[in-house]
Amino acid sequence: MRSSPMWADLQEHAKGVTDRKITELFEKPARAAEFSTEFDQLLFDYSKTNIDDTARDMLLKLARERNVAARRDAMFAGDKINETETRAVLHTALRNLDGGPVMVDGEDVMPGVMDTLARMEAFAGDVRSGRFTGQGGAITDVVNIGIGGSDLGPVMACAALSPYADGPRTHFVSNVDGADIADTLRGLNPETTLVIVASKTFTTIETMTNARTAKAWMSERVSDPAAQFAALSTSDEKTAAFGIDPSRVFGFEDWVGGRYSMWGPIGLSIMIAIGADAFRAFLRGAQAMDRHFRSAEFHENMPVLLALVGIWHNQVLGHATRAVLPYDNRLIRLPAYLQQLEMESNGKSVSMHGADLPYDSGPVVWGEPGTNGQHAFYQLIHQGTRVIPCEFLVAAEGHEPDLAHHHELLVANCLAQSEALMRGRTPDEAREKVRGQFEGEELERQARHRVFPGNRPSTTLIYPKLTPEVLGQIVALYEHRVFVEGVILGINSYDQWGVELGKELATALGPIVAGEESAEGKDGSTQMLVEYVLKNRG
Ligand code: F6P
Repeated sequence: MRSSPMWADLQEHAKGVTDRKITELFEKPARAAEFSTEFDQLLFDYSKTNIDDTARDMLLKLARERNVAARRDAMFAGDKINETETRAVLHTALRNLDGGPVMVDGEDVMPGVMDTLARMEAFAGDVRSGRFTGQGGAITDVVNIGIGGSDLGPVMACAALSPYADGPRTHFVSNVDGADIADTLRGLNPETTLVIVASKTFTTIETMTNARTAKAWMSERVSDPAAQFAALSTSDEKTAAFGIDPSRVFGFEDWVGGRYSMWGPIGLSIMIAIGADAFRAFLRGAQAMDRHFRSAEFHENMPVLLALVGIWHNQVLGHATRAVLPYDNRLIRLPAYLQQLEMESNGKSVSMHGADLPYDSGPVVWGEPGTNGQHAFYQLIHQGTRVIPCEFLVAAEGHEPDLAHHHELLVANCLAQSEALMRGRTPDEAREKVRGQFEGEELERQARHRVFPGNRPSTTLIYPKLTPEVLGQIVALYEHRVFVEGVILGINSYDQWGVELGKELATALGPIVAGEESAEGKDGSTQMLVEYVLKNRG
């Protein structure tokens, strides 16, 4: 990107606009209409940023110079754009419900995708209707054991779509901390529980440890525990070795990345919770966003614009973090989901070609639902020394018609926050606030604390209601945003070598922490911590 002529121009332009008030941009009556874009049921408003016509033109040119369109087409065509692992990137095929063939290595993958979807639907239907039973009768509870991409998507979607959940209860175990599985299994009846082991590789230590613990728990009451297990994995051999019957193994291919995988078998728990029709609506929503991403001109292409706002804030202006603030309590796990999606994808310091990245990698993504965050960390967002671009999400309507007044308050708070961030409060306004309570120097001092710098950027994604279809659109929007940012940065968004070293060292430390091997050779800090554990664990 730095080699792009647009990069220097953007830097130069940014210098001139950072001190300009965003509110001044609204002197142009069409500001909101011109700096927002609609797709189907979504409206993305980026007018409360300091992006002006010139900045946007430059960003759009940057996207063109970086060949975003060609890379996008290559991704959808099944080219091996995950170049470090020589893999295609085709999670979009999993939601290509009524699209054409999708070729990988000269073969159409769609018959396989549709066949697996049909098998999932049959199995989910059997579980939901009670045709598939545990030893004690119809399944009442489903426990999904997985981590990272084999957990965060289903957890997020099940919470988001809880108004549509009419199947067995779903539970999720991810952490290797025994507390997670112990707390989850406590109170469940093994005779009516289905355990889904979700692991693309079927080697992840956390998942396999939890899966074995769940099997042991079930075997205390169930004569054939494996019969109440299903597996979601790319490895038939390993699922068979675990004892899971192939009829309950739902496979996928290496062209589905873990953090992009909930559209296929990894979404089985979602499908069991909400049913096949609602799951298909979720896929349809994502497919509609795929079509938009592939066909819309960049100046009205929502994923492209969302990405360009991200590049503007992070790489051009240097704001290192991005707060995701859903004013939608059921999106409580969206920030965690996006942390993996964005940070595992674009947290890289080496370009696709192996060179050092000459600019910052993707931002730190974090957040919590509103209004809770307002009573926790918003203080820093409003008055801290750093600028934190905020991304608000809110629905026009909630799922609780008899609690519409709650929803009105929720929306009012969301809009108030973006307005407050932009407008701030001037010293004069602050003085007015405290006049009458204080005088002279004390008035000045007190007023100073009540000044808000304002001019803090935010975007708002607004949608009618959090339905399965809308959720599909939102998630696909973020997936493509990550893709576009990755292409502009010139990195591979689809590998994750940065998680390897910790895994290797944990494997080596296992026997040391178990007291079977000496910590000799480890650094002094590690030795001291191991010693403490060995001494203090009773
Ligand atoms: O943390 C690394 C990672 O490979 C993620 O990318 C992935 O989502 C997660 O581990 C789980 O992997 P698996 O599905 O193979 O168990």
